[in-house]
Amino acid sequence: MTRKQKKPIIVENVEITAMADKGRGIGRDATGRVVFSESVAPGDVVDVQVTKKKPEYVEGYAIHHHRLSRDRVDPFCQHFKLCGGCRWQHLKYSAQVREKEQVVRDAVRRIGKIREGEFLPIVPCAETTYYRNKLEYAFSNKTWITKAEMDAGMSNRQNVLGFHRPGAFDKIVDIKHCYLQADPSNQLRLTVKAVADEMGLSYYDLIVQQGMMRHIMIRLTTLGELMLIVSFHQNDKKVIKQFMDEVVKRTPQLTSLFYCINPKMNDYVGDLDMVCYHGKPFIEEQLGHVRFKIGPKSFFQTNSKQAKVLYDKVVEFAELTGNENVYDLYTGVGSIALYVAKYCKQVVGIEEVPEAIVDAKENARMNATENCVFYAGDVKNILTAEFAAQHGKPDLVITDPPRAGMHEAVVRMFLQLEAPRIVYVSCNPSTQARDLNLLKEKYRLVKIQPVDMFPHTHHVETVALLELQEATELQPSN
Ligand SMILES: C[S@@+](CC[C@H](N)C(=O)[O-])C[C@H]1O[C@@H](n2cnc3c(N)ncnc32)[C@H](O)[C@@H]1O
Repeated sequence: MTRKQKKPIIVENVEITAMADKGRGIGRDATGRVVFSESVAPGDVVDVQVTKKKPEYVEGYAIHHHRLSRDRVDPFCQHFKLCGGCRWQHLKYSAQVREKEQVVRDAVRRIGKIREGEFLPIVPCAETTYYRNKLEYAFSNKTWITKAEMDAGMSNRQNVLGFHRPGAFDKIVDIKHCYLQADPSNQLRLTVKAVADEMGLSYYDLIVQQGMMRHIMIRLTTLGELMLIVSFHQNDKKVIKQFMDEVVKRTPQLTSLFYCINPKMNDYVGDLDMVCYHGKPFIEEQLGHVRFKIGPKSFFQTNSKQAKVLYDKVVEFAELTGNENVYDLYTGVGSIALYVAKYCKQVVGIEEVPEAIVDAKENARMNATENCVFYAGDVKNILTAEFAAQHGKPDLVITDPPRAGMHEAVVRMFLQLEAPRIVYVSCNPSTQARDLNLLKEKYRLVKIQPVDMFPHTHHVETVALLELQEATELQPSN
């Protein structure tokens, strides 16, 4: 018995009015129902094939364009759409930042339910290509091919090194050139592939989980320091030596070369032993007046030049006089803590990754910064009333949590600690707005500033300044 094929649901003539959270376009159908669509720009009028249907909204992708937006430009990358990065390359940069600004504004109003405060215009990126200091590529023995290529008899059985195809976990798009990381990043990736091919090494098969070559990470700093981390599936010492020696020979500018063995199901290397095979065990980066050592596992803001712009905003919002006790929560390798240290009396940094705290202490030593102390652990567990009693009540809390935002217990602790001011840095306007809504119980939003750190993507960073309200000023929260 053959199963009857479901007829696709098409919503016709949807005018896209804005870009929404997660980078999709948003519009309404003839009944007023919300439609989220991929592959669109604000001002497009499109027919959308539905992939998900809910009573309040539908989701899908554009299959026909009746009208094209004036915000559109020709994408400059040959891998656009296939590789899943840079999904806004079809939008003019001025439209990208306009839409990001609107996403932040909407989140503050709709999720935060906040009306007051100054909304500052977004700070765009001066450089919209080659801005990332870190990229990761996966090896695969199967590539993504288009339907036309398949129909023309092309096989997907090819050894490739590139980015995951969105929605197809076992297929990798072979990358010829990536506009995200400056030279010599592309050359290094091509060298790694050439050496693996010349040695006849097997590429990883994500379905049967076999194959020698798994994954690489390339880190590059504005000082020109270059790190390569190679992840192998098997610990074949002889092969690894031959491979690494050849990569070093062909890449004399390598500052640091690591490898690790990953026999696990997932690509995550943060829990694996890293072997420094050649060069220094770290690379160095300079942000303004602070120099950082970056190890193979350290978190570091991925756009170094714009990170300085972001940190300068933090300093500007913080208005430090030299006498303050500052807490820097989710401190990573102590980046913001060390950046603001010279403007205040003391900084207390908390971060859950112990290796990052080792780096933070080393970075403090390297910069001869003596007024910072760092603690490893979950902010939720470390930041208690006793901790505040021991380290002194904060005059300012700087918080920069991951995309999920802060745990509710941390927000409650903020309400209990009653620091006069909070500077909240976020890479996710929705979770930031959720936390600001909870903080409304005692805090007023003074100003919020979006900063673009990731051109051609929907991601946006924000810096918000909150002020503790006098009891008489407090409004009931809703
Ligand atoms: C967005 S990064 C910010 C890092 C740093 N402020 C910077 O600018 O480089 C968030 C950091 O929070 C850390 N983190 C995530 N969850 C945490 C938790 N529950 N407690 C403490 N740190 C956490 C991550 O390891 C990461 O270093």
